[in-house]
Amino acid sequence: ATVTFITYDGEKQEVPFVEGQNLMQVATDNAVSGIDGDCGGDAACGTCHVMIDQQWAAATGSRNATEAQMLEMNPDCQENSRLSCQIALSAEHDGLVVNLPEFQF
Ligand code: FES
Repeated sequence: ATVTFITYDGEKQEVPFVEGQNLMQVATDNAVSGIDGDCGGDAACGTCHVMIDQQWAAATGSRNATEAQMLEMNPDCQENSRLSCQIALSAEHDGLVVNLPEFQF
């Protein structure tokens, strides 16, 4: 299974994942630029911010409470913003597309 990250200037990077990984781990394992994951996945640093492609909104669910609090502190937060460390990947996410915010580069 794979997920595609798209940078703010349109560069695509398709990387493999295994079920049970979270999206931030997949990005850092594959050196996807724009995702740092400084807190290790605790929804505490905000450095794993992604915007979910519209057609994947339902499959990725909604923000949890801690994540929502963290995101709302960011003035650049979009309606489709998520912390990628809070998205656990399963088979249904094969082909997932997410966008990387310019402020994280
Ligand atoms: Fe820190 Fe996601 S890795 S908030």
